[in-house]
Amino acid sequence: MCYDCAAVKGTPSAETSRRSFTRFLAAGAGLTVLTACTPDVPSQVAPSSSATTATSVTSASSSPVAAPTTESPTPAGPSPTQLPAPPSAAAALPRKSSLTDPASPWLVVNKHRPLAPADYMPADLVQPNIALAVSGEAALLNSTTAAAAETMFAAAAQEGVAMTLASGYRSYGTQVSTYAGYVAARGQADADTASARPGYSEHQTGWAFDIGDGGGACSFQPCFAEQPAAVWAKANGHRFGFVVRYPWMFHPITGYYYEPWHLRYIGVEAATDMSNRGINTVEEYFGVEAAPGYP
Ligand code: DAL
Ligand code: ZN
Repeated sequence: MCYDCAAVKGTPSAETSRRSFTRFLAAGAGLTVLTACTPDVPSQVAPSSSATTATSVTSASSSPVAAPTTESPTPAGPSPTQLPAPPSAAAALPRKSSLTDPASPWLVVNKHRPLAPADYMPADLVQPNIALAVSGEAALLNSTTAAAAETMFAAAAQEGVAMTLASGYRSYGTQVSTYAGYVAARGQADADTASARPGYSEHQTGWAFDIGDGGGACSFQPCFAEQPAAVWAKANGHRFGFVVRYPWMFHPITGYYYEPWHLRYIGVEAATDMSNRGINTVEEYFGVEAAPGYP
C-alpha cells in the first residue's frame, strides 16, 4: 500500500495498492488494514473540516504549547495571554526564522498556508551525499537540509540502520502532475489526505524529504512505521533538526494521514525542543491554526 507515490510514480502495483487502502478507509474497514501493519493505536479517519477537531486530538495526547513566533497568532490560534513562557531553546533562535518565508527553516506550509510565491524554487538545491533511491530533482534538497541529512544518515549507519532518500525536492510542475495522478486515481477528497496540492507541498521547499530503508521494505506504506529506518528517525531525527511532519492521528491538525517516512527540517534547537516537550506538530509548536482541509 502506498500513501505517497511521488518516488514510485507510474508504478501501477503501488498505486493500485494505495487505492485499495483508500477504499478500505472509505468503507470504514481501515482499522483492519492498519492493525495489521502499524503500531497498536487507534484508526485514523479522513481529515476534513468536519473531522475530529484539533482540540480533541491534542487534548488526547500532548498539551498544545506554542513556541514564540515571528508573526501574530492566527484568529483560531491561542491568544497571547494563553501562551506560556517561551522555551529557552526556541527563544534563542534568530528572529529571521519566519513562518512564511519559504527559505526559512521555520516555514509552516499546510492547507491554510500556501507557498508564496506558489512556484517557489529554492536557490540552493544540492544533491546530498547519502544513499539515494531516486534520481533527478527528487534527489535534491536545499543545502541546509542536505547537510543535516548527511549527518543524520551517517549517524544512523553507525548504529546499523540503513536509510535511503526516497523522495526529496519536487518542483511546482512535478507537484501538479503528482497531485493530478492522485486525483485521477482516487478522487480529490481522498487525494487531499495524502498529496499536497501544487503550491502547498513541503517537498517544493527543499526542507522535507521521504526516507526508505535499505531494502525498500514497506516503502510509503503504513508498515514503514515499524521499519528500523522509521523507528530510528522518529527517535533520533530531532538531534539533526528533523521532525516527523505528519504524525499518527494528527491529521485533524496537519491535514494528512500518518507519513512515518516524511521528515521535515526545522533546526536542531526547535526539533529538540518539540521532542523534549512532547509537541507533535509544527502547527502546535509554532502556534498556527490547524489545517485539516483547504479553506
Ligand atoms: N505527501 C505530502 C503531504 C506532500 O504531498 O507534500
Ligand atoms: Zn513526503
